[in-house]
Amino acid sequence: MASSSLQLLRLLPAVLLLLAPAADSLACTSQKLKNSGVYATCLDLPALAATLHFSYNASNSSATIAFVAAPPGGQDGWVSWALNPAGATMLGSQALIAFLDAGAVTVKTYNVSTYELKESPIAFETWDRTADFNSADGTMRIYAGIKVPVGNAANLNQVWQVGPKVTDGVPQKHAMGTDNMNAKAMLNLVSGESKSGGGGSSTKKKNIHGILNAVSWGIMFPIGAIIARYVRVFPSADPVWFYLHAFCQTSAYAIGVAGWGTGMKLGSESKGFQYTGHRNIGIALFAVATVQIFALFLRPKKDHKYRFYWNIYHHSLGYAILVLGILNVFKGLNILQPDNKWKSAYIILISVLGGVAVVLELVTWIVVLKRKKSGEPTKPYDGYNNGQRRQQPLAI
Ligand SMILES: *[C@@H]1O[C@H](CO)[C@@H](O)[C@H](O)[C@H]1NC(C)=O
Ligand SMILES: *[C@@H]1O[C@H](CO)[C@@H](O)[C@H](O)[C@H]1NC(C)=O
Ligand SMILES: *[C@@H]1O[C@H](CO)[C@@H](O)[C@H](O)[C@H]1NC(C)=O
Repeated sequence: MASSSLQLLRLLPAVLLLLAPAADSLACTSQKLKNSGVYATCLDLPALAATLHFSYNASNSSATIAFVAAPPGGQDGWVSWALNPAGATMLGSQALIAFLDAGAVTVKTYNVSTYELKESPIAFETWDRTADFNSADGTMRIYAGIKVPVGNAANLNQVWQVGPKVTDGVPQKHAMGTDNMNAKAMLNLVSGESKSGGGGSSTKKKNIHGILNAVSWGIMFPIGAIIARYVRVFPSADPVWFYLHAFCQTSAYAIGVAGWGTGMKLGSESKGFQYTGHRNIGIALFAVATVQIFALFLRPKKDHKYRFYWNIYHHSLGYAILVLGILNVFKGLNILQPDNKWKSAYIILISVLGGVAVVLELVTWIVVLKRKKSGEPTKPYDGYNNGQRRQQPLAI
């Protein structure tokens, strides 16, 4: 039994690898566009895996652009690229939106002044607006010439977006994930730069926060709990289980505290978006886990009269951490909205751990009942140097 837990521990690096964010594809270099020769510059935009190709002609203050992004609904979705003189927001955007309309992918202009989109003239002159859908990689591309107000070309707010659906010619609401919210940047057509104003780095920070917490609270704590509950029934696993359990939970705590710190920092930086539930659970989790860490130092001797109360304290806090930790990993996944594969990977992992726990629970009961029948002690081997063992049911 101890060896199967060891195997789980050995799997951890693979799990870490699985949870690491995929390296950004360098879409700029691989994309094949129509007239691709005309674009002097290509920017991998910091969100939604979008790219902007462009050439700027200073003598008439105009740009030729190609915007590329993959709509979540494939050919039935929409993509949008916009300049916004009013700021890096959706409202005020002078947008080009492409979608399949009456059998052909077309680009329309939208002066986005409310959340109800309605085709309308925009503040910039545009020409040669076309669009297409590349079924090979699922991207929709907007091509256009655009006249930029003289003097502003080095300091533009660009926002972009993708949506899953178009109903009766009206692009429908997009998702509100972190990537959707971060789809904005400063654009300098003159120097060919795009500055994300913290958008890109904040996504990276959120990914780090997510990985640290998923690994510690979401994976290591449950594994440590499984070790404590099931491995110690086996005399041969004593006192190895205790060291494994203590090691697993203290390292989980250390990683978890780092993850918690990044979360608090993200919370203080996130203006306008409050994830109160996630935050409060995170604070409670940190508090409970900190009290739990003291359990290690406050552990009375096995036959001490307070040991019974210590067991209640240690076990109830342990289960609370387990539930809060897993719950908050799911809340975090819903906020971060990474690719579905991360959520699926976590669900599979936690189900496997749950399955292992169920099997071990059965095995434990069989062992305990057998021992009862044969009059052997049924008490679990509780740590190191237990002294004499008394007849007592399995303490859980
Ligand atoms: C830039 O625009 C001017 C005026 O329309 C034109 O004469 C010139 O050829 C353009 N330059 C490039 C590189 O297209
Ligand atoms: C500016 O120059 C470009 C490139 O030569 C040309 O395609 C575009 O039509 C011109 N725009 C205006 C507004 O004159
Ligand atoms: C866009 O809408 C706003 C608000 O309705 C309006 O003030 C502005 O003039 C419009 N811009 C254009 C180019 O129509």
